[in-house]
Amino acid sequence: MKFTVAIDGPAAAGKGTISRAIARHFGFAHLDTGLLYRAVGMKGGDPVEAARSLTDADLRRDDLRSLEAGQAASRVATIPEVRAALADFQRRFARREGGAVLDGRDIGTVICPQAEVKLYVTASPEMRARRRWLELGGEAAPRSLDQVLAEVRERDARDMNRAEAPLRPAPDAVILDTSDLSVDQAVARAIEIVQSRLNAQ
Ligand code: CDP
Ligand code: CDP
Repeated sequence: MKFTVAIDGPAAAGKGTISRAIARHFGFAHLDTGLLYRAVGMKGGDPVEAARSLTDADLRRDDLRSLEAGQAASRVATIPEVRAALADFQRRFARREGGAVLDGRDIGTVICPQAEVKLYVTASPEMRARRRWLELGGEAAPRSLDQVLAEVRERDARDMNRAEAPLRPAPDAVILDTSDLSVDQAVARAIEIVQSRLNAQ
């Protein structure tokens, strides 16, 4: 069976959490496509060359989850040749046997416009910044909540306003606003949406 779930949305909306839960629940494979851009951003040198020669070892670096890696990713992600170099791998992953969940910024719009399910997961910038800040340690975090919010807004603006594959919901995406949802509620809603599409097949 080939079945693709495309999950897009801004930073810290809950895409990864929801994607992992869907993958676990339905036995699908999961690809966090942000990791590809983070690895390219942290590799250094010419980003186009870095994207063309990306290896498993590049994807296993310990520093890929940092705020710096997020910023570096969103800068290299504006380069069309970088995006093109990463597209084939993502499309092959999406059509593997047994189902696949991909999360990122352009999965439903550019990488898999034919995906069986498209979710656009979002939340207010304040809520997303608070979640990232809590992940960094809250009061013990090396950044203030205001700094994290500024970074979230900067990255949103770059991702939404770039010419190539800007972040926006696909016309047929289901919008899931997680601002006022717990993780369990958001996951339950997402699973329900995927299940009803599977039932309709
Ligand atoms: O992948 P993305 O950057 O969109 O977000 P994430 O890493 O899945 O989630 C960011 C943080 O928000 C995690 O610490 C989640 O536990 C938390 N969170 C959530 O994902 N969904 C909610 N409804 C509430 C909190
Ligand atoms: O987890 P979080 O939402 O903070 O970020 P991420 O998904 O790891 O993505 C990091 C950056 O990579 C984003 O801000 C985008 O600029 C870029 N990206 C992209 O352009 N297209 C994708 N499919 C995934 C990520």
